[in-house]
Amino acid sequence: MTTYLVTGGAGFIGSNFIHFMFGKYGDDIRIINLDALTYAGNPENLKSVEGRSNYTFIHGDITDRESVSEIFKDNDIDIVVHFAAESHVDRSIKNPEIFVRTNVLGTAVMLNCAKEAWENEDGSFKAGKKFLHVSTDEVYGSLPDDPDAYFYETTPYQPHSPYSASKASSDMLVKAYMDTYGFPANITNCSNNYGPYQFPEKLIPLMIHNALQGKDLPVYGDGLNVRDWLYVEDHAKAIDLVINEGRLFETYNVGGHNEKKNIDIIHIILDTLREELPIDDPRRNNVTENLITYVTDRKGHDRRYAIAPDKIHKDLGWLPDTKFENGIRTTIKWYLEHEDWVENVTSGEYLKYYSSMYDNR
Ligand code: NAD
Ligand code: TYD
Repeated sequence: MTTYLVTGGAGFIGSNFIHFMFGKYGDDIRIINLDALTYAGNPENLKSVEGRSNYTFIHGDITDRESVSEIFKDNDIDIVVHFAAESHVDRSIKNPEIFVRTNVLGTAVMLNCAKEAWENEDGSFKAGKKFLHVSTDEVYGSLPDDPDAYFYETTPYQPHSPYSASKASSDMLVKAYMDTYGFPANITNCSNNYGPYQFPEKLIPLMIHNALQGKDLPVYGDGLNVRDWLYVEDHAKAIDLVINEGRLFETYNVGGHNEKKNIDIIHIILDTLREELPIDDPRRNNVTENLITYVTDRKGHDRRYAIAPDKIHKDLGWLPDTKFENGIRTTIKWYLEHEDWVENVTSGEYLKYYSSMYDNR
């Protein structure tokens, strides 16, 4: 039986990945989820898997070398899927240091503990082991508004935000481990994800949440920045494929030719919310274009991200399954059906965060 150590499994993509893996492999795999439960980690995301005998949750920090080392000593880990990170660009602009600590130091600790556990005496590595480092396309910097310009695996790194700089650094550490020790790893650099369980600080869930409350929809700058949106389950499928079929030491870009301007996303959310809210729901009256409010631009705001997924398509046969029209509707319905989840994550600290980010913007 393959044993996975998933870091950051209580976050947005990590929890979707765990649901996907149990849905696909059932009792044939074991998953250990190591998560520090920061503001972004929510055990509620995994309530439905908690009773499984092949699932273990460990509340711990990836920068805590001793605890991580213990996990490798106590368990014969086959695959590490490394999601744990600080992940929000705006927070990184306000407080970069925690990004360096979690994303860079945390990745170094994970790599070192895996290396210690997996290395044979002669410096080779035990068969069947792999470290899958989950990263972002933001490491490549920003593309011009030229429809023929894309990020490829060979695009030079040019991160701009403290978030992307810390992720770029973590990628470089993984590359250094592969080059120096022959450490068995893959890196995936994925575009923007959307779907259930995403914390309402990122564009899509924040706009859904604000629109339902009749609050302003804060559009940074001219609203014409472009992101390449991927439904989170398609990301989970790509990671599973790279774990099982990806050639060791390779990087794979993951994204789905789904470029959208921010302002267009907001119009789609408003239209879909109006369609999905029951006719007698008083909030329908709130959901109008009048909520759109242009605010001061994000510092160093990257203009455009776009992935050409040629390599993962050609080598591994991956393409996204979910069309944006369907994925966004599923996502909006999920948020409408899980208002208690939203309520829990947006009380207390969230309100303080919101006012520190958006008041006086
Ligand atoms: P998220 O912020 O929703 O979740 C991060 C998780 O990591 C949380 O559960 C949090 O508690 C945990 N965590 C944070 N610090 C930790 C620590 N020190 N020790 C242990 N756990 C810790 O993030 P996400 O959006 O799910 O992103 C997951 C990964 O995917 C990140 O590495 C991110 O860079 C990458 N990624 C995200 C996107 C996206 O669109 N969200 C796109 C490409 C790549
Ligand atoms: P975000 O979801 O933070 O992802 P990232 O910056 O990592 O791509 O933001 C997506 C886009 O939406 C980005 O161009 C910034 C913009 N944005 C807004 O216009 N308003 C907002 O309130 C937020 C959170 C983002």
